[in-house]
Amino acid sequence: MAQDVNAKAPILVTGGAGFIGSAFVRRLVAGKRAIAVLDALTYAGRMENLAPVAGADEFSFHRCDICDIQAVAAVMGAVQPSIIVHFAAESHVDRSIENPRQFLETNILGTQVMLDAALQAGIRFVHISTDEVFGSLGDEGAFSETTAYNPRSPYSASKAASDHLVRAWGKTYGLDAVIVTSTNNYGPYQFPEKLVPHMILSALSGRVLPVYGTGNNVRDWLYVEDHIEAIELVMDRGQSGQTYCIGGEAEHSNLDVVKKITKTLDKFAPREDGKAHESEIEYTVDRPGHDFRYAMDISHIRSELGWSPRHTFEQGITNTIRWYLENKPWWQEILDAGEGASRIGLMKKAGAK
Ligand SMILES: NC(=O)c1ccc[n+]([C@@H]2O[C@H](COP(=O)([O-])OP(=O)(O)OC[C@H]3O[C@@H](n4cnc5c(N)ncnc54)[C@H](O)[C@@H]3O)[C@@H](O)[C@H]2O)c1
Repeated sequence: MAQDVNAKAPILVTGGAGFIGSAFVRRLVAGKRAIAVLDALTYAGRMENLAPVAGADEFSFHRCDICDIQAVAAVMGAVQPSIIVHFAAESHVDRSIENPRQFLETNILGTQVMLDAALQAGIRFVHISTDEVFGSLGDEGAFSETTAYNPRSPYSASKAASDHLVRAWGKTYGLDAVIVTSTNNYGPYQFPEKLVPHMILSALSGRVLPVYGTGNNVRDWLYVEDHIEAIELVMDRGQSGQTYCIGGEAEHSNLDVVKKITKTLDKFAPREDGKAHESEIEYTVDRPGHDFRYAMDISHIRSELGWSPRHTFEQGITNTIRWYLENKPWWQEILDAGEGASRIGLMKKAGAK
């Protein structure tokens, strides 16, 4: 069912202070669409991400935990949204290996609270999911909307559970729900614990560049601006009950990504000692259960809604590196707070010392 979401009632965006959510909010407010952000401002949520839209008439912010049923009800009552777009989640695989409980609470129970809120209000629910729910591919093939679920980390298991709840609320209660399932995102404002910004900032600080295992694990890389364009399209025109798989059609191994970053930095921010940034690459013990390869078949959204990614990986990564070079205060504050400078989550493997 096509949605008329141009009405004055705002779109409620959970997790709108995070990386992808804030990009979505900045885009929609720039397009004069009314937005209310609901976000608990965890370590990953930052008001700085929303600074470009903070003064806009179309924008309001509500600090709220999605697990808090009463607080969510109060925000729903105050905002009276026309639709919910649900980004809020614990999103970092390594953290999920260290502390799975928080992931189950936010990603599963929190999603249930938001599903009930949408159901009670009788509005559309747009759920943001990840290709990690599908598990791992070999050298060939790609995930699609019909791929069976096979999550392998606490993070992906919690996201898979939330996807199942969304479909169940559609089938059981008739909720108008759509799911957007994307590959690895990268771009401006991404929290420094994730691979791309972690490598950019480590290189700029002259620290080693830690690559898990052999660095041969392959991901499909999606520039965040392309992703949020797809989300807006699915929100407005996606068919109820459908899932839309989104990817950047840009498969690269982790090592390729790191080398692309170091080469670009050699151009824009060469090291003072004249060495190539690549010289700091160091191979570390692999992440437990590290999925080998992800790739996405995007023919469903391409044929039904006419979407395909606009940015090549080269364009996206260059834009991203430029943004980090031009926005040092944004990331320096995070690093000064002791966040994002090291890689975590290697300790909990059964039998590991
Ligand atoms: N980053 C990726 O590559 C990627 C890929 C596919 C799907 N996704 C999904 O997209 C969504 C957004 O990812 P991201 O990378 O922007 O994440 P992020 O970690 O940058 O942001 C998450 C946001 O959710 C908020 N949040 C966390 N727990 C909350 C709670 N209990 N109540 C309210 N707000 C809470 C945080 O404060 C933060 O603003 C997630 O659902 C994630 O699973 C991410």
